[in-house]
Amino acid sequence: MKQKTGIITGANSGIGKEAAVQIAQKGYRVIMACRSQARGEAALQEVRRESGSEAVELMLVDMSLQSSIRAFAAAFLTKYEVLDVLIHNAAMFDIRQKERVLTEEGVETVWATNHVGPVLLTDLLLPAVKRSEQGRIITISSKGLTAYPFLRVDLTDPEFARRKFSVQKAYYQSKLAQVMYTCWLADQLRDTATSATDIVSALSAGVTVNSIRVTNVQIDVASRYPNMPKLAQKAYAMKSKFAILPAKMAETYTYLATSPAVSQTTGSYFDDPEHIVQSSKYSRDKENIAQVMALTMKYVGNGR
Ligand SMILES: NC(=O)c1ccc[n+]([C@@H]2O[C@H](COP(=O)([O-])OP(=O)(O)OC[C@H]3O[C@@H](n4cnc5c(N)ncnc54)[C@H](OP(=O)(O)O)[C@@H]3O)[C@@H](O)[C@H]2O)c1
Repeated sequence: MKQKTGIITGANSGIGKEAAVQIAQKGYRVIMACRSQARGEAALQEVRRESGSEAVELMLVDMSLQSSIRAFAAAFLTKYEVLDVLIHNAAMFDIRQKERVLTEEGVETVWATNHVGPVLLTDLLLPAVKRSEQGRIITISSKGLTAYPFLRVDLTDPEFARRKFSVQKAYYQSKLAQVMYTCWLADQLRDTATSATDIVSALSAGVTVNSIRVTNVQIDVASRYPNMPKLAQKAYAMKSKFAILPAKMAETYTYLATSPAVSQTTGSYFDDPEHIVQSSKYSRDKENIAQVMALTMKYVGNGR
């Protein structure tokens, strides 16, 4: 049987790294898509050792930069024709951040990394995902969103250019947008999968798109956020007491990426393999989703 291939962004630490180990153990070729050569190389050796698989590679991408995402996608497509699993795990959330920061391409960094980047990367790799026998796209959101039931994507100012920046608000806005994007993409691909004129889709068993609502998971604060102020360190230490291990959370990634049980499941939002949950009423509304995606498309254009 042909070896399947999966990409995990931000796979050099935390849940992404554990998912790389688990998915490699399932016999998949795993591409660890990381922004730092040094952190990526170190994690690559760990993942190979822990998984016992040599079919694990490092490829560099900075998910905040469209130029980097385009270069990564081009490099991947030069090497591989088919992509079976794409996991949009990379995200930035640094509670030390007090001010809005723009990328060198001029986009607010949290919005660029956590929402715009995954949308562009999917678009560029979609032809390869459609060539899979059964392609899977997985986005990552946060259970913390439940604390913001009335949160909206600000259609006029998603980048906090005209309102006070809050890293929490920017982060949860980006994760809300990812949930809405998941519904939108699942719908788009449902349509193409049933179109008899689309030869590629007709040949494949269809592409599924699902999101994971990640709960409170332990973060290696000392290495992830050196020089964190004492108060924030204490807050993280408290939070960690109630957190699960990254490897436990990664089991849901691995399940959605590899289990035959979910080969036909699309547009769903998972807490864990047993629990499908619902996002907020606002985020499920088709008109709201269309507006968020119209806004998003202004950032990525047609993506190619
Ligand atoms: N931990 C939690 O409690 C929690 C809760 C809800 C949701 N989540 C979500 O779960 C996912 C994994 O988080 P985690 O807990 O495993 O945190 P983590 O250890 O901080 O992992 C985040 C990863 O994203 C990478 N990354 C950040 N910006 C990037 C960029 N511009 N380009 C490429 N990679 C980038 C980081 O790489 P660098 O090493 O280069 O920074 C790191 O490998 C994220 O989507 C997060 O939002 C986590």
